[in-house]
Amino acid sequence: MVYVEMRNPEENYPFDHWWVIATSEELGQGQLLPRKVLGMDVVLFRQDDGTAAALVDRCSHRGLPLSMGALEGNRITCGYHGFQFDPTGTLVAVPTQPNCPRKGSVRAFPVVDKAPYIWIWTGDPALANADDVPVYPWLREPGWAWATERIHVAANYMLLKENVLDLTHFPFAHKSTLGAIDSYANYSPPPVLGDDRVCYRNEFLNQPLSPVYNDDLGLGDRLTDRVDEGVSVSPAVHIAKVSIRIKEPRPGEKAEYAFMFHHMTTPETPRSHHYWWAMARDYAVNDKAAAYFKSIAHVAFAEDKVILEAIQKRNDEAGPGANLQEVSVVADRAGLMARRQLQALLDAEDRRRAGGTV
Ligand code: FES
Ligand SMILES: [Fe+2]
Repeated sequence: MVYVEMRNPEENYPFDHWWVIATSEELGQGQLLPRKVLGMDVVLFRQDDGTAAALVDRCSHRGLPLSMGALEGNRITCGYHGFQFDPTGTLVAVPTQPNCPRKGSVRAFPVVDKAPYIWIWTGDPALANADDVPVYPWLREPGWAWATERIHVAANYMLLKENVLDLTHFPFAHKSTLGAIDSYANYSPPPVLGDDRVCYRNEFLNQPLSPVYNDDLGLGDRLTDRVDEGVSVSPAVHIAKVSIRIKEPRPGEKAEYAFMFHHMTTPETPRSHHYWWAMARDYAVNDKAAAYFKSIAHVAFAEDKVILEAIQKRNDEAGPGANLQEVSVVADRAGLMARRQLQALLDAEDRRRAGGTV
């Protein structure tokens, strides 16, 4: 079975890949959750034992979205003429006749629920390895306060990937929020390739801590060394770590703290994506933390959304005579490296398809 036809040039995303499709929390028992990923309409649901399942969200009979049907036990009953599908996508009942057409099955996708996220494999199921689905201790284990949320962004997902690899936009795009005191604009990140990843590192030494991190730490003007590191782990995942060290810790005082950022991107279409941000910290683990993270995200990431959507719109609406060329500077090195890495991934996938293995 061919799972993916020849790539549309606009589809700048690998299909043989694990992507976040939902949070574990948002998929309740008994629910049919529709979500479009990589141009494909998918319906998610939980089986009787709670295991997540995913099918193409289109009935094989006349095309009604299966998410408009009913989930009874492990079966989805289509809301039009009552065809029934099991979690493998097999058509198991047609109300008006005893037998089911052999070609009536719909595509099932491998899915893995590793809280707090449900991941989907969008390519050849034979290549899916559940062990490749990552687990993040700071989003699961005690000792951390964390929160995550989805933002829909009407822009290609690589615009977001490049945004989080170039933090020199902070003083301009986030004037009153993340960019309040950090001097990112003077910073030329030397990207480094670690394994097959794009990384950056930025140091803020011997300085009072930015209010973003100091809010619940209460260090006031005391001096700290802070190191920001970001890693584009894959097209689906970017993780940044902010390491804070108090310069002169008081007796008995914990000297080192960590603040984690996640930017999880899943293409919806070539012109839109789902963006799950997550934040976690190993200090001030209290009831107010999640609300604090959301207050940062709702302002700062909304600022990015406005910018990325405006860029996408401007490019989409450009007339035939428009010049859409870009000029790059030193600060773009990590982003350009991420583009090259993505292209290598896409080329490899296209070669596999051409070789008949997908
Ligand atoms: S469209 Fe689904 S049963 Fe007819
Ligand atoms: Fe930003």
